[in-house]
Order: sequence, then structure tokens, then C-alpha cells
Amino acid sequence: MANLEASNLTLQPVSVTRKMAASLPGLRDLAISNGLKIHHLGAGYPHPEVTDPRGFLQHHQAYIDHLIAEEGLNDPAVVPEVLRETFSYTDTLGPQTTRQAFAAVYGRDWGVGIDPEQLIPTVGATGGINLICSLFERPGVPVAYISDAPTYAGFTARVGLCRHASIYSVDMDEEGAKPDLFRAQIRQARADGNFVPFYYTVPDGHNPAGFSFSQARRQELLAVAREEGVLIVEDAPYIYINYAPPAERAQPFLALAPDQTVHLFTGSKIGFPGPRVGFLYSEAQLSIAGGEQVSLSQMALTEASSDVLFQNPQALRGFEALLHERQEDGQGFVLRGGMWPLAEEKLKVYRENRQIMLDGLQDGLGQYPQHFRWTTPQAGFFTVFTFLGGKVSTDDDFVQKLVAEYGLVVIPMYDFYPQDARARDAAAGFDQLRLSFCFSESTGEARRRDLKEAVSAFCAAVKKESGLA
Ligand SMILES: Cc1ncc(COP(=O)(O)O)c(C=O)c1O
Repeated sequence: MANLEASNLTLQPVSVTRKMAASLPGLRDLAISNGLKIHHLGAGYPHPEVTDPRGFLQHHQAYIDHLIAEEGLNDPAVVPEVLRETFSYTDTLGPQTTRQAFAAVYGRDWGVGIDPEQLIPTVGATGGINLICSLFERPGVPVAYISDAPTYAGFTARVGLCRHASIYSVDMDEEGAKPDLFRAQIRQARADGNFVPFYYTVPDGHNPAGFSFSQARRQELLAVAREEGVLIVEDAPYIYINYAPPAERAQPFLALAPDQTVHLFTGSKIGFPGPRVGFLYSEAQLSIAGGEQVSLSQMALTEASSDVLFQNPQALRGFEALLHERQEDGQGFVLRGGMWPLAEEKLKVYRENRQIMLDGLQDGLGQYPQHFRWTTPQAGFFTVFTFLGGKVSTDDDFVQKLVAEYGLVVIPMYDFYPQDARARDAAAGFDQLRLSFCFSESTGEARRRDLKEAVSAFCAAVKKESGLA
């Protein structure tokens, strides 16, 4: 007998990545008992080789010591202000110094003037997604978000929490979401009686689609967004995990139109995921009830102050430390000229891994262009692998078989297609796998060797499963 009658509640569906994670230990044991090595091509986590916190902890401490020294207090009985503040309640905006540092460095990197007073700290990009959804769900009217097919599972999951929210998805080609379909979906969603506040996308290193939107496509999508009066929520976790030469990097929507964009920055990939640092930034204006004009950032701040309310000042100060470097004379700290040197530390591993993945696929499967295709990611952690010809269905059974019989952990794509995309095409994603090259348990030479072995095992497996071996 239940303690609470709650028949109005339903269990949220479990995402395929969670299902995989849950079934992995059993499958792994099975694979190992079959004498197989486990090959990681599934996890989307930052690599341990570039997320060793020890150097960061020293840097953070030295930065805090520097701030304490700058206060110039000589009385040991008085707690330095920076320490007191770091362990106290802050307000919803977090420390001003962190926002100022981030605005200066990020603004310089992307050629935008960022107003630190409009930067809203979030609990990673996940918190940014939650904040922007909850803001527009508040009125309680049917709300439709436009997104890509496929789209980020964390976004779909968040939208699933709200009964009056739905996703209208837009199919993509190799340059990004298709502008005509984008416009058509906005209009359809409105015709169906929805309020359509934004289009959510991941234009750089799209997770899970494994490519970046072209510059031209961004402009086209932006033009549609402006004409139709919807915002673009730009989720940018991989903006610095970028493999394109600097001159060829596409501009984020943030740089193209800060007044039409809600930009979600996260410290998870450029720094560390654990501290959960992120920022929402927008210069959009909203016309709200009573015809009043308010900035989106003000609305987001009010929303956040009823939600997270207090930021974690220590995590934000840690991120602020990352934005500073030691002065050449070793005496103090100065603001970094940009975040690219930090990115380069990470890119050393990801660039190499990406090349191993692409070379391995080309070597193993390059002679079968009529059977297989894969994306060349310009940013991010993933390539999407497609089986052509309809012989293989990448359903749960297939993916579990890859673990049990080949030791290969990969993620099927079908679950990343929003419901309406699957209604349009029941087979959507059932010919695709998401292969990640960001994570392995090993480091250095062992990492290279393990990834090469993983890609080679993958090529052998898909050839066999496609009847080509
Ligand atoms: C597209 C996308 N958005 C958001 C996130 C979550 O980021 P955070 O750790 O900042 O919450 C991820 C993480 O993999 C992601 O790929």
C-alpha cells in the first residue's frame, strides 16, 4: 500500500545513454568472460589526461593567496575578505570579479562586448537549459521549442519535465538545420496554438550530430529567427574544443547577434565538469505583460533567484583563477589574453584522438563508401557513423551485441531524435551510431594504442555485421 496516492505522476522515460550506463556492467562482465577487451567509444566525458585537478588546485590556491596578499591585511585575527566571501552566501549573480574577468576574456576571444552585469551564472550548461526553459514555461501556456533532429538528450529530457512543452524538430543536412524547415516548424508550432520562444541548437561540435554548422547556414538560420521573432539558444560546450584553424572557425550566434541569442557557456570542457560553472548571456529584450520592455537577463535573474538563489562562490572563484595567469616575474596574477591557451592543453589530446579515429575509420572502411559514412567533426567529441543500404538496424539489441560480442561500447542515435522526428520517419537514427573519441581509461601512449585498437575493432565488427568480412 502506497503512502501517497499520486496517480497523476508518470515515470519519466530513461534516456538511452542512461540505459546503456545501467546495462554496461553486466555486458562488460559478459564481454570480459568471453575474453574480450572493452573498447570505449561511448562515453562523452572529458578525458582524464586533461582533467587532472592537481595543477589547478595549486593554481587556485596561489590565486587566492595573491588576492589575500592584495588586501594587505596584517592582522591574523581578521579573516581576509576574499576567504570570508568564498565561504558565505553570495547572491544570484555570484562574485562580480568572476563575471568581470569572464566578460573581458570571453569577449576578447569572440569579438563581442559582454556586459558583466547581464551574465547570469548557471549550474553548467545544464543549468542554463533549465533556466531558459523554466522562464518560458512559467506562464503555463502551451510552449513549443524548435530544435534539431537529432538534438541533445539533456535538452529533450528537460523539455520532458514540462507537460505543456513540446519540441518541433528540424532535419539537418551537412551544413546544419535546414532554414526552410526551420521556418515551417515555427509556423506549424504557432498554428498548433503554441508560444514559440526559441530554437535550441549546438552549432559547434553538435552533440550528438558530430559536425559544426557552416557560417553561411548560421546566417540563414539567424535571418529566419529574426524574421519570425524567435530567439536562438546557443549551447556552446565545445566552442573551444575546436579543430578548425583560427581563420576558418565559424562565429557563434553570440558574436553574430547578441540581441537575438541566448548563449550558454560552460566551464565543463575548457575547465572541469565537477565544479558546475556556467553562464547564460543575452542582450535580448522581451516585450512582456502590459507591453513592458525588459531585458531577458533581468527576467532570467529573477527566475534564477527563485531557483538556485545562491551561487557557489568557491567554484566561481576557481573559474576566475583559471582566467588568470601568473605574471612573468612570478609576482602576481594577470587576466589572460584569451582562453585559447587553456583550450590548447585539452586539444593536445582531443586533436590527436580525433585524428586516430578518422584515420582508423578511413583505413578500415574507406574502401566501402557505398556501405558506411561518418562525419568529420570540426569541433567536439563525436563523429556520427551511418550504415548505408538498410541492412543493419542500430537498435538496442545491436548495440548490446557490439558490447557482448566485440567489447565495443557505442551509443545508438535513434533516441536523440525528438518524438516528432520519429513520427515523420520511424526509422530515424536506426542506421546511425554516435562514436566518441574523448574518453578512455588510459593515458599517453596507452591511450593512443587503446583508441587505435578500439577503432580497428569497430571497423572489423561493422564489416562482419554488414556481411563484408
Ligand atoms: C550539448 C551539450 N549541452 C550541455 C552539456 C552539459 O554540460 P554541463 O556539464 O555544462 O552541464 C553537454 C555535455 O556533454 C553537451 O554536450
